Amino acid sequence: MEQVKHILLDVDTGVDDALALIYAFKSNKLYIEGVTTVFGNVDVKQATDNTLRVLALAQPRYEIPVAMGADAPLFRPRRENVTAIHGANGLAGYELPETSQLPVDERASDFIVRKVREQAHDITLVFTGRLTNLAVALAKDPSIAQKAKLVLMGGAIKVPGNTTPVSEANIHGDPEAAHRVFESGIPITMVGLDVTGKAKFGEAHFHELMNGFTDEQAELKAFMQHIFTFSFEASERLNEGKNRLMHDPLAVAVVEDASLVEMEDYYVYIETKGQLSSGATLVDFRRPPSRTNASVCMHVREEAFLQHYIRTVLS
Ligand code: BDR
Ligand code: CA
Repeated sequence: MEQVKHILLDVDTGVDDALALIYAFKSNKLYIEGVTTVFGNVDVKQATDNTLRVLALAQPRYEIPVAMGADAPLFRPRRENVTAIHGANGLAGYELPETSQLPVDERASDFIVRKVREQAHDITLVFTGRLTNLAVALAKDPSIAQKAKLVLMGGAIKVPGNTTPVSEANIHGDPEAAHRVFESGIPITMVGLDVTGKAKFGEAHFHELMNGFTDEQAELKAFMQHIFTFSFEASERLNEGKNRLMHDPLAVAVVEDASLVEMEDYYVYIETKGQLSSGATLVDFRRPPSRTNASVCMHVREEAFLQHYIRTVLS
């Protein structure tokens, strides 16, 4: 029997983080040790509140602790919330009911250190936002780099960025944190725009999903209907067609099933000094690297992923 994978999710919930959370909660191949939160699409209080509400909506089969983390990059001021893509509250303006669950009384970075120590060699950290909490956790205990694996949504190798011409939002949002993580020695799988930019959830997928919900899933259906509709309008406004890029869900899917992607090993450098290039993920294509720090996803079987996403959410 296939083994269940233990993961810890770090999110800046956000529309696609919410889609990733729902998917991870529904997966019977994953056991979520906890969710930590970070600033990014919204401020960290909002990200934490959104995470708790999405958690209640998805009704996971077991209790999942939520720990609040950083509200700003390590050394830079925090940028504005990304309202055009994620709505004023990060959930496309949808008001999910309040929940009784509170965040745990432990900082995200301490929570990460403790979980990695407890579950040494058997935990995958899945980061779908800025890497700030992990950089802080590594500063507190650098040895966790030898005890955990990291799968992160972020970066862009052969494709343009989505925040500057060359930088992706999660890396650009805290380049110093990303630099520390990439230099820490933790085994990294990078799920960046090279693959997430192809993972387009379109109208046909939307109808397939909507038609698959049962009456008991009415609340989840209403939420997903709203956020996909909002996302389609937002991407059309940006002249990017009628679709939702499934950045964060793809990172979770790669943990479940790495055969969805093809990876290449590189040494990824993080630019921290540039004006336009801050947060760029740079590799040297000319020379095969004598050492590498990341397996970078370069190709994805997007339709297989999207179908798997739909099946898992409806399960
Ligand atoms: C990433 O940035 C955030 O806006 C999304 O949630 C995703 O994690 C895409 O660049
Ligand atoms: Ca995110």
